[in-house]
Amino acid sequence: MERVINKYLNVKPSKNANTILKDRYLMKDGQGRYLEETWDDVSKRVARHVASAEVKYTKDVKEIQEIEKKYYNMIKSRIFLPNSPTIFNSGKAMPLELFKKEAKDMGFDDYKKIFDSKSKHNMLSACFVVPMDDSMDGIFEAVKQSAMIMKYGGGVGYDFSVLRPKGTSIAGTGGKSSGPISFMHVFNTSASTIEQGGARRAAQMAVMKYDHPDVLDFINSKKDNDGNSVLNYFNISINIDDVNNFKNKLKNDEEITLEHPESDKTAKLNAKEYLRKISENAWKSGDPGLLFLGKHNHYYAMGHETPVQATNPCGEEPLPPFGSCNLGSIDIAKLIDFVDIGNPKDRNLDIFEDIVYWASRFLDDVIDMNVYPLPQIDEISKNQRFIGLGIMGLADALYKKSLAYNSVEGRKFMAKVTASLAYFSHVASSKLAEKRGNFPDFKKSKYPKGFIPMPLLEDDFDEDIKLWNQKLRDHFLNTAIKYKRNVQTNTVAPTGSISNLADTSSGIEPNFMLAYIRYMTDKEGNRVPLPYINSILVDKMGDDLTEDLEAEIIEQGSLTNIKNVSDEYKKIFVTSMDISAEDHLLAQHVIQSYLDASCSKTINMKKEITVDEVYNIYEKALDLNIKGITIYRDGSLQTQVLEKNKDK
Ligand code: CDP
Repeated sequence: MERVINKYLNVKPSKNANTILKDRYLMKDGQGRYLEETWDDVSKRVARHVASAEVKYTKDVKEIQEIEKKYYNMIKSRIFLPNSPTIFNSGKAMPLELFKKEAKDMGFDDYKKIFDSKSKHNMLSACFVVPMDDSMDGIFEAVKQSAMIMKYGGGVGYDFSVLRPKGTSIAGTGGKSSGPISFMHVFNTSASTIEQGGARRAAQMAVMKYDHPDVLDFINSKKDNDGNSVLNYFNISINIDDVNNFKNKLKNDEEITLEHPESDKTAKLNAKEYLRKISENAWKSGDPGLLFLGKHNHYYAMGHETPVQATNPCGEEPLPPFGSCNLGSIDIAKLIDFVDIGNPKDRNLDIFEDIVYWASRFLDDVIDMNVYPLPQIDEISKNQRFIGLGIMGLADALYKKSLAYNSVEGRKFMAKVTASLAYFSHVASSKLAEKRGNFPDFKKSKYPKGFIPMPLLEDDFDEDIKLWNQKLRDHFLNTAIKYKRNVQTNTVAPTGSISNLADTSSGIEPNFMLAYIRYMTDKEGNRVPLPYINSILVDKMGDDLTEDLEAEIIEQGSLTNIKNVSDEYKKIFVTSMDISAEDHLLAQHVIQSYLDASCSKTINMKKEITVDEVYNIYEKALDLNIKGITIYRDGSLQTQVLEKNKDK
């Protein structure tokens, strides 16, 4: 681990990363004055805050200092980064002199002081699910609760299926219910007033079960959204909780019955027409996505006790009511120079194992340092101890290994990386349980029965996969029956901001563009161009990258239509839009086969694809080891975040 850390510890963040650092992460006082200047300051604060949890487990201050140093090294080198709320809110509203001390001067009492002086400002998680009752009181209580979560930087998901359909009588008032969609607008308005952590837009997920009588209104609810208007603080997803039933109805061309326990209103909808309606809307605006929460409950060790109800806004973390999860991501593009991640025979594999162990321990410590916004959240988060360790930098790692994202070899690499992540993080969680105890609900969970919380790929997918499968099976049948610190350990987040901080590609997504120009406004108000070009492309092309070619790549964003570039480069340096929808989906399938939670992945599609093609992709998704699907057709939202430069 030392060698890797040493290489990256003093690498300066790029201009792009520094801009984000200054905009979002440097701590400010109440008057907006900066209390921090550099990434080093932030790394120290976060490492010290989280390492203070160790006072619960040891009296040895030297040990805590060592752990703080490990956390600092992983964060400062940007090999591992926690989710944004941990970076925003660690150390907030605490005695600053404690954060300025050298680690070697920290006493046990100093760490204890940080541990004991936690306040509501120290909310460290990105993912929440808030339930609501089917009553005015219940709905507005949930609005209030989610506002508190979003204020500190958490994203919230809700299941709107519990609300009775529009037009249902309301006992007591004699009135009629205005229905779930009208209440979604209330949540949207509330979210629109909140700037998370003082730095970014709030984000929410609305889920509705596929057989709710208002599901067609739900599907259409964002139809007129141009990216900036209708329900723009929501992603929406339909929960097909019983995938087999839905598949059979499609196959036999049958009808689905829409019904709700609180209503006499029922309706029937032909399954194919239903999926077509979903596809039409998704073609137009990307919404709705699909979620298969029944599958999730099947693989969730507490699915029989506290079934998941919705996911966080980007879909990677299905959670039960009042569930929460903190995330962290390892940049595999940085590690791949030192260790052939996923190759079980690589002699440097212990580097990866070590980082996964310390990252898992960090996330487990985050639970103890977290101040949850509601007592119900505190209870379930501590009884089950969800953590979400994932990866970022996959696309850049593939470039470094000269493997195409949309190739069988590329997918083998993805599967092996994720299988090894899953294996080492589950081993870490069991090791932590031996030291610290199991998660309190362990005995009620499926683990003591020898439960494997993910589908795994077929053994014959790849020889190395066969080995990882065997290791995972052994782990769950022999060790996890006794020891497990966390009910869930892995997920892959979008890493929308932290991958920028880390100067790496986002999560498991291909790069959207190989080069672009980002415009910044300087102090005098002038627009200053900040050209970016993928550094791995620059390294690999060497002298082949002439000035003219570079200008063309910046203009195009991708190599596909550039004449004087060899096919080999074109094959490896693919971008999102160069990859077919099927290849996006297969990447998700192999990766998700090893994650016990879920992952954030967008199936990007070209502008000219048809509604039928969207339909086919949704239909295919029902057959794979995935827990949901989100598609996006290029250009279908006016406020698309990244556009090719020529369109600007
Ligand atoms: O990179 P960063 O840690 O900022 O976040 P991400 O990986 O892009 O998103 C992880 C999760 O953070 C999302 O799924 C949401 O639950 C939450 N999030 C949010 O609440 N608001 C945002 N503007 C972005 C993310």
